[in-house]
Amino acid sequence: MTSTIGIDIGGTKIAGALVSGDGRVVRSGKRETPAQDPNALVQATSELINELADGDQVAGAGVACAGYIDAAGTTVLFSPNLAWRDEPFKQRLEEHVSVPVVIENDANAAAYGEYAHGAGAGDPDMVMVTVGTGVGGGIIIGGQLFRGSYGIGGEIGHIRVVPGGQLCGCGNRGCLEAYASGSALVREARALVTSGSPYAATLSEACGGDPSKLDGPMITTAAQQGDPAAVELLGDLGTWLGEGLATIASVLDPSRFVIGGGVADAGDLLLEPMRAAYGRLLTGRGHRPLATFVTADLGNDAGMIGAAALVRERL
Ligand code: BGC
Ligand code: NA
Ligand code: ZN
Repeated sequence: MTSTIGIDIGGTKIAGALVSGDGRVVRSGKRETPAQDPNALVQATSELINELADGDQVAGAGVACAGYIDAAGTTVLFSPNLAWRDEPFKQRLEEHVSVPVVIENDANAAAYGEYAHGAGAGDPDMVMVTVGTGVGGGIIIGGQLFRGSYGIGGEIGHIRVVPGGQLCGCGNRGCLEAYASGSALVREARALVTSGSPYAATLSEACGGDPSKLDGPMITTAAQQGDPAAVELLGDLGTWLGEGLATIASVLDPSRFVIGGGVADAGDLLLEPMRAAYGRLLTGRGHRPLATFVTADLGNDAGMIGAAALVRERL
């Protein structure tokens, strides 16, 4: 089997790899994400594809993007947290590279990567949730990635959990993403530091007293060192996610939830409150099996490896 290229466009970096048919990374590379400039993004992504393809037989490149992708895998219709609006990304990339390109939703790609080569292996009904800048969802049903009629299925981050709640990047209010993303975690932690509460002392110290410098890894590190405020913030996030996933289970009844994205580095500090909230809210609890919750095996490589694997399915 020839190799394929997988690219994952994240908020801060574009990660890419040449991946063999059995999911092995042959070589990898990265670029910084020119976040709010679609033209520079085409440039940086196509450069990385060309660099990775160099001299090898490559069947195609799969590009994972944080947004709503049309069913054909050609256009980013909309992105809640990036500047893409009806962006014909496949065509624009193909003007600069010599391999066919397919674009995918980043969480769908991560779900497929985990299903094919990671924490979902062998489990035909799994739901992946990625917790980072946004909250992404990827649904595998009966061993197939579910995309919906128009390509936009599985947007778990935008189910409404609070009527009239916090404004979300998608323009709606009260989406799960507005409470359960890494961005929401940082927003709440900054608010706590800004309040001057003695409870925030450790977090305040971690960011040198400047709340705008506080980031997700600082919160995770503080929690791992036992800071009660950081533990509580991650616990709140886990609770939002667990409740949201109980809603998802009412519809899909998966046997496994795989949690990925940067915030998943917090491990049990996130997963334990998540499981607990899920168990408290799940309909029919006590009379049905509880799904397993695990963190992503492939870590931050899931989207890239999944995008490379999905190219085969599409071409
Ligand atoms: C977007 C999804 C994306 C997720 C993670 C959400 O805001 O709606 O398409 O998968 O963020 O990047
Ligand atoms: Na998705
Ligand atoms: Zn939303």
